Amino acid sequence: MNDDNQTDKIRRKRNRSRKTAYLRFTTGLRQLTTIHRWKNVFLAAYLLLAIVAWLNRGKLLFGLDNKFMLFPIFTMAVNCLVALLLPLGLLCLISALGTPRKAQKIQDRLIGAGFTNHAQEPPLLLVRYHLSLNPKITIWEFDENETPLSIWEDKKDKLQGALIDRIIKITQSKNGRRIIIHTVAPRLTIPSVMHWQDKYLSKESFILILGESLTGQETVNLAKIPHILLGGASGSGKSVLLKLLLMECLKKDAEVYIADFKGGVDFSSIWHEKCHLCFDENELLELLTGLTDELQRRKTVFRKTECANIDEYNAATNSKLKRMVFACDEIAEVLDKTGLSKEKKELISQIESQLSIIARQGRAFGIHLILATQRPSADIISGQIRSNMDCRICGRADSILSQIILDSTEAADQIPKDAQGRFITNTGVVFQSYLFDDNEVFFNNGQTGGVPNSESKDAGNSNP
Ligand SMILES: Nc1ncnc2c1ncn2[C@@H]1O[C@H](COP(=O)(O)OP(=O)(O)OP(=O)(O)O)[C@@H](O)[C@H]1O
Ligand SMILES: [Mg+2]
Repeated sequence: MNDDNQTDKIRRKRNRSRKTAYLRFTTGLRQLTTIHRWKNVFLAAYLLLAIVAWLNRGKLLFGLDNKFMLFPIFTMAVNCLVALLLPLGLLCLISALGTPRKAQKIQDRLIGAGFTNHAQEPPLLLVRYHLSLNPKITIWEFDENETPLSIWEDKKDKLQGALIDRIIKITQSKNGRRIIIHTVAPRLTIPSVMHWQDKYLSKESFILILGESLTGQETVNLAKIPHILLGGASGSGKSVLLKLLLMECLKKDAEVYIADFKGGVDFSSIWHEKCHLCFDENELLELLTGLTDELQRRKTVFRKTECANIDEYNAATNSKLKRMVFACDEIAEVLDKTGLSKEKKELISQIESQLSIIARQGRAFGIHLILATQRPSADIISGQIRSNMDCRICGRADSILSQIILDSTEAADQIPKDAQGRFITNTGVVFQSYLFDDNEVFFNNGQTGGVPNSESKDAGNSNP
């Protein structure tokens, strides 16, 4: 039994050494081709050296005079030796490039922190470098070490201890063989106020900028993730973030529709000029029905032109079909049926079903929802709407609201109780949303033309 264990241990050790050598070499190659192309300087220097060594092989190896090289046996032996040593040197050089500084020290720390696999082996550090776009961020790449991503995430604290850095993101490479960790210095924090600047507006369709995290700007692409659910306690900064997103939509020439049952007090007159606002349930149903009719119309037109989505359609037909964004600052207020009359309940159900159509089908047709809520009641936002809102963001919240918005208590755990404008996404990124002044942002930039009138709209674009 003991012998079996011993053999098993030896076999594992041998396999690990082989794997390490292979990983060091392939990582070295990757450094030369993708990560650090400047390291090709080493390669070029080595090749130059190799050529010189080859030309002077006799002298270099034995200090022999060239005359001795006339003996064919010597010539052959030296040729063979040099021909063997040079590729071996190349192999060692590439493997050295694939070995980060202090890799062994990190491994020892990982063992010390108990971050090992079932065979007590620590993961192998393959690469460590600073992100060129944001040098505050360090990227660490490890081999996955027979450890699923979920365990890396669960043991984040141990990892942090070993890396002596704050982990902000853990992901897995596409082939699943590498674990990629983003870290920042432990003392680095996000500023508590960051002001919006017009230059931040993304030129890409249809990327909206949310704010800044430790890794840089946090964005959401409505072309891919069409709807946003925003949660947070009162005063957490939901309305500011909602308006930031709507302002960007307007600047990107989308049509913006807002349901505001507080009588429009949250939206200054500038918003009334630039967006369609509705103030009660009947108006809202009319508005949503108009949006779903437009969705059906776009569906027919796209089918005829064989276009899969709004961007394709606009490119293929040279049209300027606009994206439409419906926003509601307190959706639970609108959808809550408790204590309502039968007719009112029926009305709310119809509103819900229209929202649900947009949530399910809106993406391809450029019709989006941005819904905010502070009410921690799970049953108010129907499952169909919720499950289609893939971008979920939560500000300061208790664990119930956090659970409803993110399906986890992360917002309650990670957002300080006095934070304003601090949010966490359902992908675990904490960011500070940009603070902005409606009037300043709109008046400083005359090009935001508001909701276009019917003449200026695309011919095929009917107003709901
Ligand atoms: N990004 C931000 N940066 C700094 N301060 C902010 C930010 N967003 C909001 N605040 C501050 O927080 C205050 C409350 O923000 P906001 O009105 O958006 O909260 P809310 O979540 O909508 O609250 P309620 O649910 O009561 O409507 C703002 O008046 C502002 O002072
Ligand atoms: Mg608000």
